[in-house]
Amino acid sequence: MRKDLLSIDDLTAEEARELLSLAGRLKSGAAEHSLPGKTLALVFEKPSLRTRVTFEVGMTQLGGHAIYLSMQDIGLGQRESVSDVAQNLSRWVDGIAARTFAHQSAVELGEHSSIPVINALSDHEHPCQALADVLTLQERSKGLSGLSLAYVGDGNNVCHSLLLLAALLGMDMRVATPTSYEPNAGVLERAKALAEQSGGSVLLTDDPALAVAQADAVYTDVWASMGDEHEAEARAEVFRPYQVNSALFGLAKPTAVAMHCLPAHRGDEITGEVLDGPHSVVLDQAENRLHAQKAVLVSLLGG
Ligand code: CP
Ligand code: NVA
Repeated sequence: MRKDLLSIDDLTAEEARELLSLAGRLKSGAAEHSLPGKTLALVFEKPSLRTRVTFEVGMTQLGGHAIYLSMQDIGLGQRESVSDVAQNLSRWVDGIAARTFAHQSAVELGEHSSIPVINALSDHEHPCQALADVLTLQERSKGLSGLSLAYVGDGNNVCHSLLLLAALLGMDMRVATPTSYEPNAGVLERAKALAEQSGGSVLLTDDPALAVAQADAVYTDVWASMGDEHEAEARAEVFRPYQVNSALFGLAKPTAVAMHCLPAHRGDEITGEVLDGPHSVVLDQAENRLHAQKAVLVSLLGG
């Protein structure tokens, strides 16, 4: 594997499969304390529940330790340059998990540090989330190949990482967004190229019903991501037809699961009926953040 995990595109299909398989073994109790004495710095510019807790708990369970550093603590790029933060941390700790506004800040942390840097969410990608999500799907199905995942809503960081991972692993990925909120063109092109190699497929549409029809999983995320909150009101108008409610979800397979990375806004991108209903796997996704990230930590910081 490469030094850093900044994007799903840093992984080959084989590496992604190995990470998912290791995550499954770790979930069953294997390899506890495999990072004794190691320290992970969490460099976070934005709030977090799941990502912070699962990285901290993960390091503890692996026999190591995590230090949380908020903007108030270190002022990444303000009190001190990204490169100076990266070089200093490299002298003390064994890895960095970075949650940044600009993806470029995470890239720079990687470039200027001698230790692994893991993207814990940037404005461009959320690779740890996608790994946990696909682990959740893998646990429930015989294989990932040909499994259809419909993502409905904003073509954002979560959508980007899901697109790349689904395409890498031969899944049938459908994305429905309003015009002007499509995923990044470069990510889409890359996902299409990956799908061609893996036997998967990628569909982009502005029709949520088309994306969801007979899907195995229906995924959504907030309409306004952290940093876009000032657009929330305008976006609510545009995104209303993209709400995952019982009518839309009912178009998927009867066995379909409802997915969300959380935090969710009930009544906006998803109704409480679907989010809290019998088909929801959102808490399995949240739990699997722990196991997927432990696999990433063992792979990048171990040895
Ligand atoms: N899904 C996710 O990354 O949650 P947090 O923002 O709470 O970490
Ligand atoms: N797209 C959301 C995901 C939060 C986990 C955001 O970036 O705020």
